[in-house]
Amino acid sequence: MQVTVFSCREFDEKELFLSYGKQYGLKLVLCNEAPSLENVELVTGSECVDILTSKIDRNLAKAFADRGVKYLITRTIGYDHIDVKSCREFEITVGNAPYGPNGVADYTIMLLLMSIRKAKRIIERTNIQDYTLAGNLGKELKDLTVGIIGTGRIGRTVISNLSGFGCKILAYDLYQSEQVKEKATYVSLEEMWKEADVISLHTPLTEDNFHLINEDTLSKMKFGVVLINTARGGLIDSEALISAIETGKVGAAGLDVVEDEFGLYYYDHKSDVLNNRALSVLRGFPNVTVTHHMAFYTDNCVRTVVEDSLKSCKCFMEGKENPWEIKS
Ligand code: NAI
Repeated sequence: MQVTVFSCREFDEKELFLSYGKQYGLKLVLCNEAPSLENVELVTGSECVDILTSKIDRNLAKAFADRGVKYLITRTIGYDHIDVKSCREFEITVGNAPYGPNGVADYTIMLLLMSIRKAKRIIERTNIQDYTLAGNLGKELKDLTVGIIGTGRIGRTVISNLSGFGCKILAYDLYQSEQVKEKATYVSLEEMWKEADVISLHTPLTEDNFHLINEDTLSKMKFGVVLINTARGGLIDSEALISAIETGKVGAAGLDVVEDEFGLYYYDHKSDVLNNRALSVLRGFPNVTVTHHMAFYTDNCVRTVVEDSLKSCKCFMEGKENPWEIKS
């Protein structure tokens, strides 16, 4: 039973892969590069391929299938980087290995607090020994209304964490959860735009919600609204966000994800001129905290995702019930 693992990180994943591979009796081909048509031969002899956030387009899916791949597992919660339709056409089953929601939920609260307490500005000033107060006035969470869009595993955990701060919590999802109703009030998006002082995104990126935050929806929000995005960059129209920050309509933002981050994040580009203008502009604002898709990155998440991705491959190859298979 062989699995080819792409984008295997030497410094934190390799040892875990070797240990869990042994535990589950799997032969592993480990490669630290992302999969591409150049290195696709590495999948020969493997029924399963284990990837990170690399784009799997139709050509790559076909190249996998031509070499006998039957199962593709991504070590991520989101799977919008995979052309699932093409994979299915080429008879490749797709799975994802979601880790616990706490790492991302904690990080969301951190970005939220950093945004309302102007932490970026304060830290930058402290670093240059500018110990003045003007411009650093923050807000208290208990005085704010926080809107959570997407009340799945992460959104629900964020709501649970937030409930300890005494703020009013609004929620929106396509499907309502009874558990959420104990701590938050479901409202329509229109009400959310009108009422929320802070809006935090926790939905997958789909065709339906691409640019959910756009010029029109931003215009309906409160002046000075704070936006937090630890979900997917494509949920926000970056150009519209930049304009809204320039006018003050958006008072602060905490962005762990941005549009078109694939190929940039997780690589060292410090000497390069970036071809992502929105990222460069957003990063430069004093009231915008940008991090490079780090919310998931805890010891617990990395360990769980490596183990579950291999367990999922094993279930698939043994024809057992595979809880990680994407069925929708
Ligand atoms: P989940 O599947 O448990 O919950 C997603 C929720 O979004 C569901 O309740 C679903 O009904 C809702 N939803 C889907 N489309 C919607 C729409 N158009 N409008 C309103 N609600 C909608 O997923 P989970 O585990 O909570 O993760 C959420 C997202 O967080 C992932 O899809 C991923 O994009 C992102 N993520 C980001 C990470 C990071 O490191 N920054 C790490 C992990 C996940």
